[in-house]
Amino acid sequence: MDYRLIVFVLTEALFNVASAQTLQYNFVDTPLNWTDAQSFCRQFYTDLATIKNEADVSAVVSTTSNYTGQAWIGLYDDLVNSWMWSLNDSSFYGEGGTGFRNWVPGQPNNVGGQQYCVELIDSPLPGAWADVECSLELPFICYNGTISAIASFVKVTNISLNWTEAQRYCRENYVDLASIRNETENSIITNLADGVTVWIGLHRDLLWSDGSTSLFLYWANGQPASSGQCVTTSFNDSGRWFEDNCSLSFPLICYTEIPPNAGSFLSVAQAETSISLQWNPVNNNVSFVLQFNGTETNISAPDGGGPVTQTVSSLTAGTEYTFTLFSVLKNVRSSGVTITAVTAHPLRYIVGLNIRIKSASELTPSDIDNIKTQLIRMSGLSPQLLSLNFQAV
Ligand SMILES: *[C@@H]1O[C@H](CO)[C@@H](O)[C@H](O)[C@H]1NC(C)=O
Ligand SMILES: *[C@@H]1O[C@H](CO)[C@@H](O)[C@H](O)[C@H]1NC(C)=O
Ligand SMILES: *[C@@H]1O[C@H](CO)[C@@H](O)[C@H](O)[C@H]1NC(C)=O
Ligand SMILES: *[C@@H]1O[C@H](CO)[C@@H](O)[C@H](O)[C@H]1NC(C)=O
Ligand SMILES: *[C@@H]1O[C@H](CO)[C@@H](O)[C@H](O)[C@H]1NC(C)=O
Ligand SMILES: *[C@@H]1O[C@H](CO)[C@@H](O)[C@H](O)[C@H]1NC(C)=O
Ligand SMILES: *[C@@H]1O[C@H](CO)[C@@H](O)[C@H](O)[C@H]1NC(C)=O
Ligand SMILES: *[C@@H]1O[C@H](CO)[C@@H](O)[C@H](O)[C@H]1NC(C)=O
Ligand SMILES: *[C@@H]1O[C@H](CO)[C@@H](O)[C@H](O)[C@H]1NC(C)=O
Ligand SMILES: *[C@@H]1O[C@H](CO)[C@@H](O)[C@H](O)[C@H]1NC(C)=O
Ligand SMILES: *[C@@H]1O[C@H](CO)[C@@H](O)[C@H](O)[C@H]1NC(C)=O
Ligand SMILES: *[C@@H]1O[C@H](CO)[C@@H](O)[C@H](O)[C@H]1NC(C)=O
Repeated sequence: MDYRLIVFVLTEALFNVASAQTLQYNFVDTPLNWTDAQSFCRQFYTDLATIKNEADVSAVVSTTSNYTGQAWIGLYDDLVNSWMWSLNDSSFYGEGGTGFRNWVPGQPNNVGGQQYCVELIDSPLPGAWADVECSLELPFICYNGTISAIASFVKVTNISLNWTEAQRYCRENYVDLASIRNETENSIITNLADGVTVWIGLHRDLLWSDGSTSLFLYWANGQPASSGQCVTTSFNDSGRWFEDNCSLSFPLICYTEIPPNAGSFLSVAQAETSISLQWNPVNNNVSFVLQFNGTETNISAPDGGGPVTQTVSSLTAGTEYTFTLFSVLKNVRSSGVTITAVTAHPLRYIVGLNIRIKSASELTPSDIDNIKTQLIRMSGLSPQLLSLNFQAV
């Protein structure tokens, strides 16, 4: 008999669960240039859209059904502020050590729109820097750690690699591509390069308006085509991206973060006409809406840590209530958590007891205490709920 091995692949299902939507996108049908679009989103929402995966692309595309043009998203190209070193170790740089630049006058110029990597040139200005396409294949200089607090560099000139491969080579064989902190180190590396143009560790990426570091890209065919330094999503092309001149006017996609639900939502006390609820705050910016029996109560964001307590009063005794708690951030609600709680039943015990005594003076305070203790034991009621009342009959 043959047996067949059947393997169920669950990866995709798990992936879908893990990437639950945490951003709510809004289409704003007012054409603005990119900087004005950014200000608008920051004023009324969180920021211009950041798009981190294909689920986000679908969410953006479904924000409007009757628009087929382009709309600004948060991605842009900043020629000044987006440069960073391959070696990302703050202790190596110290104060101001990441800011040294030695550009050839007129550089970086991003000619052709794809110059994201930096070469140290041999002529006409030995040791000066220029931005070039990362796909060029060049010799390179690696950083190999410090010896007696002096940075040690290694030249690799017997192979030429593109910037990414050079970075991989340096990371595998030494520490990283070379970082240059000042004029002295620039001279050391220029001498080491010895008349050859080499890669150094400086490079850049497009930036997201909200500072997020997502590397997800969704370019349209033929993009990026150095057609501008700001990016639109095209509703005519499944949400794919185009580079455009930042001065052009397009509608925009803003996003608001969907806050998480509050944790540990529970009822901590039930009286006849009130219920006390408690939950853990999300952070100081997240307020709450409590919904029950068709009413909504706004609860402001807590200014300290610790659980939030809310007592709901004017309730009916012995009744079950359903409470739903939403977290709220900039008018956007979380999915909500629901619990039920029951108010206490009203006091219903009336106990009649006949005791025959000769005169009132025969009943001492300790006799009364004894009777009370017996009643508490027999009824199971709490002492606070029990009141004794003696009447002559
Ligand atoms: C899309 O439809 C809405 C109302 O349904 C309208 O206000 C808006 O102007 C329309 N946008 C475009 C680009 O046609
Ligand atoms: C949408 O795409 C079609 C076909 O590519 C094109 O003819 C049309 O002009 C586009 N519409 C807009 C609004 O870009
Ligand atoms: C290190 O990485 C962070 C986050 O990606 C970035 O903001 C920072 O500029 C980098 N540091 C250097 C020296 O490139
Ligand atoms: C660098 O070379 C590798 C291997 O040939 C290639 O996969 C990669 O796309 C190249 N990167 C760039 C930026 O050209
Ligand atoms: C790189 O550093 C390692 C560890 O300090 C050392 O063993 C090696 O000799 C260095 N390589 C070069 C080429 O300096
Ligand atoms: C380049 O030189 C290094 C060090 O001299 C050597 O280990 C490496 O194998 C050489 N690589 C090639 C491709 O020749
Ligand atoms: C350059 O930086 C290195 C490492 O921080 C330091 O040892 C050296 O003194 C600096 N040189 C100058 C001229 O600032
Ligand atoms: C972008 O458009 C503005 C105004 O239309 C124009 O002055 C500017 O030169 C354009 N920039 C680029 C990089 O094309
Ligand atoms: C966008 O328009 C504003 C005026 O509304 C102007 O100040 C700003 O420079 C423009 N930005 C770009 C990138 O064109
Ligand atoms: C709360 O909002 C302020 C101002 O918008 C912001 O600076 C801060 O980072 C926010 N805090 C949290 C925990 O999100
Ligand atoms: C719920 O609300 C209605 C009116 O809004 C009120 O008549 C009713 O008594 C409430 N129910 C409870 C159980 O409190
Ligand atoms: C709760 O806040 C919302 C939004 O700020 C407001 O529209 C609503 O009137 C408030 N509800 C109550 C009961 O205060």
